[in-house]
Formats: sequence, structure tokens, C-alpha cells
Amino acid sequence: MAIWVKYSLAVLPLLPCLLLFLAIKNNEFKEKIYVLMILSLIGYLLVDRLVPIISQYTLKRGLCGKDLGKKGTINESVDVPEALGIVSGIVFLVCAILSSVVYFSNTSHQQMIFNSALFSICFMIFLGFTDDTLDLQWRYKLILPLTASIPLLTSYSGETAVLIPAQLRFILWNDSTKMLTTLGSVIDTIFTVDTNAEGKIIELGPFFFLYMSLLSVFCTNSINILAGVNGLECGQAYIIAVSILFFKLYDIYISSDHTNVCGDNQLFAIIMILPFIATSLGLLRHNWYPAKVFVGDTYCYFAGMTFAVIGIHGHFSKTLLLLFLPQIFNFLYSIPQLFKVIPCPRHRLPHINVTTRLMSASTFECKASDYQYFKSKRGDVSCPNYTLICLILQVFGPMYEETLTTVLLGVQVTSTIIAFCIRYYLLHE
Ligand code: UD1
Ligand code: MG
Repeated sequence: MAIWVKYSLAVLPLLPCLLLFLAIKNNEFKEKIYVLMILSLIGYLLVDRLVPIISQYTLKRGLCGKDLGKKGTINESVDVPEALGIVSGIVFLVCAILSSVVYFSNTSHQQMIFNSALFSICFMIFLGFTDDTLDLQWRYKLILPLTASIPLLTSYSGETAVLIPAQLRFILWNDSTKMLTTLGSVIDTIFTVDTNAEGKIIELGPFFFLYMSLLSVFCTNSINILAGVNGLECGQAYIIAVSILFFKLYDIYISSDHTNVCGDNQLFAIIMILPFIATSLGLLRHNWYPAKVFVGDTYCYFAGMTFAVIGIHGHFSKTLLLLFLPQIFNFLYSIPQLFKVIPCPRHRLPHINVTTRLMSASTFECKASDYQYFKSKRGDVSCPNYTLICLILQVFGPMYEETLTTVLLGVQVTSTIIAFCIRYYLLHE
């Protein structure tokens, strides 16, 4: 891919955000954002500069991996520095702390929110780096985000109820009898369905905290398992982050009083997401095909926890899930392998044809009589890996690695457009 195409593709997702930003009339808000943009730009330049330097250190310490997509080339045996997510993570923390000092920490409540958010992210970066150095087992990878989400949960002081979109209210509330439906009554035995609000509100109580901690586990792990081709981990997080920025700017743009006032929740989300976008872009430049560095689990955990924190303290965790549609699909589709119904090899990334350089869906070997229901043809001696990446290769046929990453990021962009239509036009409260 020509270099100018790569750069254009990278900045393209930011254009709608820029247009929206220019259309916002609140000048006080805009001045804040200009300063945050300059800080983020410095963050981008720092990551871009530091990644090649720090990668030499990680290489020296043996923190590296082989690029499995380069089999059959002279790069097959080259050690690629691993865990460079640590650079974007640390630069992000510095930028976020500076931004918050300038704009967010005016009251002790705001300070508490911000400190707990940064504590959870910092904890997760540390645990991700630990995973990259110690190569933890899957069960620990699931537990770690739970621990890291504790500071986040203890400082949460928002609602513990969920609003049911108007179009779905009929599931819980019967308008003609003015009573709960059978399903509504069943749900009411576990949670509290607000009958005064005619099924509009479900009070989750302590279950909301369980939901928030599971959200942290999901966000961190779902990015980590949609991985294996150059630029994918970092690229998907970059698209999700730009989507969050777009949603928040759109919220401010459509705010009813025409003065485009920015609330605390929105400001918090924007302060967090701008440096994240910048530091991810700086890392993506080095991780894009052919990858000079790997981002490692450090980056996946850092990105996932940042999204969870923004979703929870920004009070839009349901909308956040809509931005994770490819990751939700990949997780559900992976369940047979994640829960060991069928074997899950250490790596499920696509198979590379060493002659054509095309990637195709990967498989694992098994007996002809095993796992019949999971095979494309009965009696095969191999079974496909259940990942979104492999599914796309099965549907569209073999692709070059760079094309595959671009297609997968295209799916991520499409899912943002779908999420936008669902959030603002299909379902409203
Ligand atoms: C997750 C996936 C695994 C996938 C791996 C790739 C599940 C359950 N686990 O495991 O299937 O193979 O991510 O990241 O779905 N690598 C490349 N090219 C890349 C990125 C990574 O070859 O573009 C290889 C390198 O050898 C690198 C290694 O993957 O060293 C990193 O794997 P790691 O992140 O430790 O794997 P997991 O997150 O455990
Ligand atoms: Mg990983």
C-alpha cells in the first residue's frame, strides 16, 4: 500500500470529528479542546519517537516474538520487539494527568473520579506488562481486569438503573392492562422494574456493579482475542476511540439549548479519549504492516480499561457496547474454543501461504471422528478456528495480510455507523 494511502486512511476517521467540532458553537469549550489537541499532538510525537528507542531495550531483555505472518520470508526468524503498548500507555497517563489538572479537577468529586480512573488504567497497564513478561494463563487474564476495576467501582456514584428504549418497553410493560408482562414480572423478581415509570426503568442495584466489572473484563479481553495480524489490535482500538469522540461531540452538538453546553461526563470522556487517540496513532505507525513492533497484551489491556473507564464514568456504557459489535461477535463465535468445547490452539491467527503470501482461515488437526458439528465437512481431519478473522477469510477468500487488516478495520467502521443509527435513530429513551 502506498505510503500516502496509509496516512490518508489513518486520518480519514478523524475528519467527521473535526467537522462536528467546527460546527459546535460553544467557544469556551472549543478553546479547551484546542489546548487538549496540542497536548495530544505532543503525545503522538513522543510515542512516535520513543517506540523505536524503547523497542531496543525490550529486545535486549528478550521481550520479543516472531511475526507468524512472515513465515517463508527472510523476516521469518527476526525477533520483533513486544509489549510496546507500554510506551503509549505511559505517554497517555502523562497527557491525561496534565489535561485533568488544567480542566477537570476543579472539585474534590471530579478529582476522585479522575484519580480512580487513572488508577484503574495504570493498574491494567502494569498487569498487561506483567502478562507480556510472564505469559500468564487464560484464567488469570480473565481475573486481572476484575481486580483492576475495583478502584473504578468504589468511586462510582452514578445511577445503578438502566433506561429501556421506548421501542423495547413492550417486552416489560403491557400498555392495555397497565401491568408488567410475564417477562417483566420474572425480571422484577431479580431486579426492580419501575412500575410508576411503566417499565421504562430497571433498577439493577448491586448487579450494576457486577455489570461494570464484567464490562472491564470484556473490553480488555475482547480486543486481545481479535488479534494476530499486523496493526489489528491497535487499529481497532483507534477506530473505537475515534467513534467515542464522535459520539461525545455529537451529544454536545445536538444539546437542546443551542449553546452546545458540555457536561462534566462529556468533558471527562473527551479529556481521556483525545490523548488515547493520539498515543494509539503514534504506536499504530510502527505496528502497521510490516510491523516493526508488537503492541503486546499491555496495549490491549490498557485500551480495554480506558474504554471501560470512559464508558462507566462517562455514563454511556450501553452505547459503548454498541461500538464493540465486531468484538462481541468474535467473542460469541469463539465461545466453543474459549470454553474448551473444542481445542483452542495457542495461536488462532490465519494460515499463511508461503508462496503466494495470501492468508487463509487457519485450522487445528483432529481425528476424523472428533468434533463433527464444528467442521465444514464431516470426516475432515482438521477443524476451523472459530474467529471473526478466519470467518472473513472463509467468506471473502484468501487475502494479503495488509488487505486483511484493512478489511477488518472497515468492518469496525461499518459497525460504528450501525451503532450510530441504532443509538440515535432506532432506539431512543
Ligand atoms: C491472542 C489470541 C491468539 C492469537 C494472539 C495473537 C485467542 C484465545 N488468543 O492470544 O489466538 O494468535 O492473540 O496476538 O484468541 N503475533 C503475530 N502477528 C501480529 C500480532 C501477534 O505474529 O500481528 C504473534 C507474535 O508471535 C506475538 C504473539 O502473537 O509474539 C503475541 O501473542 P499474545 O498477545 O501473547 O497472544 P494472546 O493474547 O495470548
Ligand atoms: Mg495478546
